[in-house]
Amino acid sequence: MNTPQMPGKLIVFEGTDGTGKTTQRDLLGRYLLAKGYPVIITKEPTDGPYGMKIRELYRHRSRFSREEELELFLADRRQHVKNLLLPSLMEGKIILCDRYYFSTAAYQGALGLDPEIILAQNDFAPEPHLVLLFQASLDIGLKRITAGRGETLNNFEQREFLEKVATIFSAIKRPFIRNIDASGTMEDIHRQVVGCVSDLLQPLRTASPD
Ligand code: TYD
Repeated sequence: MNTPQMPGKLIVFEGTDGTGKTTQRDLLGRYLLAKGYPVIITKEPTDGPYGMKIRELYRHRSRFSREEELELFLADRRQHVKNLLLPSLMEGKIILCDRYYFSTAAYQGALGLDPEIILAQNDFAPEPHLVLLFQASLDIGLKRITAGRGETLNNFEQREFLEKVATIFSAIKRPFIRNIDASGTMEDIHRQVVGCVSDLLQPLRTASPD
């Protein structure tokens, strides 16, 4: 869905697990808030009823077929779009969203569903103004998950699966996707993120001086 008539901006953080998206989303949120922008921080899967069901997948993935899994992510997104994303865009908010429909194309695509069909099934969801695609070698990502967070890998995070996910992410071409080299330090990655976002927010800042 196109969103030209809405005053807000939708900025999405995408990439495989352990690339530091969530940390960078929160850093950018604080940076923009300090500059006076009206920021909304959110994520998918959400904390709503479908999001909770999706978290069940981590534990009992085999109980869901891939089609059922896809349906859950789509249902969660429909609620997110209706309850938060569209109203916030109408109100002129800057939404920072951790994962969106590119994750569905990449992750459920890696299960064997067609990524292009998945993208088309997300036509109900507003097109983002900017997608930051976090890219780091899987070694770095997996190490961050196991060592950094002290977690064991869940089913979503198996190496072979994540290789497929990364390949699909890289194959999606849209004019609003920017690649972020997520192999460096936190500060280095933050600078890249701010660089991409400044281009997008420039007109907004001159329109409402602080
Ligand atoms: P993640 O951002 O890792 O959430 P958290 O760190 O809070 O557990 O997302 C959870 C997993 O869900 C992640 O491995 C990617 C997967 N996912 C999909 O498979 N499809 C989707 O459409 C989305 C949004 C996420």
